[in-house]
Amino acid sequence: MPEKVKKRNRNRLMLPIYQPYLPKECLRYAHDALDSTWISSQGVYIDKAKEKLKEIVGSKYVIMVNNGTCATHMLALGLKFKYPHIRKIIVPNNVYVAAWNSFLFSGGFEFIPVDADLNTWNIDHKKIPAPDEETAILVVHNLGNIVNVPALQKRFPKTLIVEDNCEGLFGRHEGAYSGTQSLISSVSFFGNKTITSGEGGAVFTQDEMIFEYLNSVRGQGQSSVRYIHDKLGYNYRMTNIQAALLYGQLEIQPEIREKKRSVFDLYTQELKDVEGIRFQETEANTEHAQWMFGLRFDQFNQQKKRDLELFLFENNIETRPMFYPMNQHAHLSQYSNGIEIAERLNHQCLILPSFPELTRSQILTVTRKIKDFMRTHS
Ligand SMILES: Cc1ncc(COP(=O)(O)O)c(C=O)c1O
Repeated sequence: MPEKVKKRNRNRLMLPIYQPYLPKECLRYAHDALDSTWISSQGVYIDKAKEKLKEIVGSKYVIMVNNGTCATHMLALGLKFKYPHIRKIIVPNNVYVAAWNSFLFSGGFEFIPVDADLNTWNIDHKKIPAPDEETAILVVHNLGNIVNVPALQKRFPKTLIVEDNCEGLFGRHEGAYSGTQSLISSVSFFGNKTITSGEGGAVFTQDEMIFEYLNSVRGQGQSSVRYIHDKLGYNYRMTNIQAALLYGQLEIQPEIREKKRSVFDLYTQELKDVEGIRFQETEANTEHAQWMFGLRFDQFNQQKKRDLELFLFENNIETRPMFYPMNQHAHLSQYSNGIEIAERLNHQCLILPSFPELTRSQILTVTRKIKDFMRTHS
């Protein structure tokens, strides 16, 4: 974005890509946490939020942590702990970088990147190589479009699957919530997520041994004796203030999800007949988590997509590009094979404002501007 355009727009009222939905009643627990002086990682709201989350998604074990990146790091830690023979990980090549970084933090994994599918924008199932016994699969649900984990597990019954569900909370596959059908999964409660605690995250697992291990790793790996640590650990603890904010959000989650459903429905209705625009397609027996609404302009090249991005920006509409292929990050530049579709998605896709309180008139402004651009640039 040219600097002078940026400067000009800074002063205008921009429609943001996201803003959290925080009505007064959902903040009362956060105020209570502050008043109680339990502001660190002890206090009643950590258990309350955990139990609420368990009840909603139906996960046997949940561990509350301080962001989605450390939750995702715990996928790697849990795999290493219980299945130390796993040395390779099949990964999608067009995801938010934290998914890959989490497997780099403690080393020991060789990546087997797989290109994206042009229609779902997720991993291309046809390109997944048959895993050997040393290989696990990392699933990522881009923008909330759910990979059917039970179907993938059926195809590779002996392979361990872990799930970065940071963008997929409240999506479903085969009727069950995403994140509950794999060995371990992570979620994020960052400020731009459907449910937020500012910064925050959680780990889901159905495996008791992994739960016990990760629960201890989260708090410096302390043993049952205070200040005696029987493993290498981290401080990945969520604070009581974060948990109180999260608890308030979980109480109103049906309302938040309903608002987001309306946003997605209106975008879909307004844009479904526009030639040259495609939506993310869902896999069979899955329900999109409706985190972010994305479009693919199937006749666009990178320059034209950039022109549209600038046009929307000049009309005070913030957008985001689709994630870059992994080789675009300096520390991952060696992964440059088989990135054709990931590159195309990055060149053709744009993510639109997708927050719960978007009004009908704001959505209609966004769709009208896109249609104007399409008409004048065909
Ligand atoms: C796929 C994916 N993994 C991991 C993360 C990291 O989450 P956090 O920002 O809470 O650390 C994100 C964040 O948006 C994400 O989209």
